[in-house]
Amino acid sequence: MDFAGELLERIMKAKNVVILTGAGISAESGISTFRDKDGLWSQFNPKELASIDGFMENSERVWQWYQYRRQVLSSAEPNEGHYAIARMQNLFDRFTLITQNVDRLHQRAGSKDVIELHGNILENRCFSCNTAYTKEIDINDKQMPRCESCGGKIRPCVVWFGEALPQDAINRAEIESMQADLYFSIGTSSEVFPAANLPVIAKDYGAYLVEINPNRTSITQYADIHIPDKAAIVLPLIHGIMKNLDDMKRQ
Ligand code: OAD
Repeated sequence: MDFAGELLERIMKAKNVVILTGAGISAESGISTFRDKDGLWSQFNPKELASIDGFMENSERVWQWYQYRRQVLSSAEPNEGHYAIARMQNLFDRFTLITQNVDRLHQRAGSKDVIELHGNILENRCFSCNTAYTKEIDINDKQMPRCESCGGKIRPCVVWFGEALPQDAINRAEIESMQADLYFSIGTSSEVFPAANLPVIAKDYGAYLVEINPNRTSITQYADIHIPDKAAIVLPLIHGIMKNLDDMKRQ
C-alpha cells in the first residue's frame, strides 16, 4: 500500500495521537455495522430497539435483541485492526482511543483507558433506580431480569437514541480531540452526533486528519487523507510504519 509521504512525515512528528473508531473496525470480527446495506439498521428498527420509547413500549423485545447481540459477540474475537491499535498505544508521547462501539473488542485486544462514548453492551443497570446490575447475565436467558433492589426492569449500559452521552466520556473526547496533532477516524459513517463532530474539532484545532473507511463519509471532505480500505488491512501496515519510525528514533 502506497501511503502519502505527508502521512509518513506526520507520523514521524506526531506527539499526540487520537483514534476514533466506529462499527467498521469490528466488521472483520463478524460484528455487523449499522448503516451498511446489510447493517443492523437495515434489518431492525432503531426506534423500537434503541430508544427509551422502544423500551417502554416493549422491554422484553429490546432485552431479547441485546441478548441476541451478546450471543453474536460471545463467539467474536478482536481482529488485526483492534490489535494494531492496541500496539500503537505506547509509541507516542500521548495516545487516546475513543470508540463508539459497545463491544469491548478494543479492550480485549489490549487497549487501555478506552473512552467509550456509547457505553458497553456487557454491563447492565436498573432502568428505574439506576443500580448497576453486576450479577452475571446468562446470554441464553430470554427473560429480562428484574432489579434486586427495586424490582425495576434491567437495561443494557448502552446509550440509546435521544439519550445524553456519559458526560465524562464526551468531555474527555472533546478535550483530547482538540489537543491531537494526528487524528484517525476509522470505520465510522460519521452520521451520529456528537461523535461525528470530533474529527472536525480535531481538524479545526490543527490536527492532520486521516480517515480509514472503504467508503466516503460526511467527514471525508475534511480529511487530509482518505484511505479507502478495510481497517483490519490498513491498520497493521500503519502500525508497522509507526513501529519502524519509533525504532529509528531510538537508535
Ligand atoms: P455505521 O454502521 O454507521 O458506519 C460503519 C462505517 O464503517 C461505514 O462508513 C462503513 O463504510 C465502514 N466500514 C464497513 N466495513 C469496514 C471495514 N472493514 N473497515 C473500515 N470501515 C468499514 O457505524 P457507526 O458510525 O459506528 O449507536 O455508527 C455510530 C453509532 O450509530 C453506533 O455507535 C450506534 C449506531 O446507532 C449506538 O449504539 C448508540
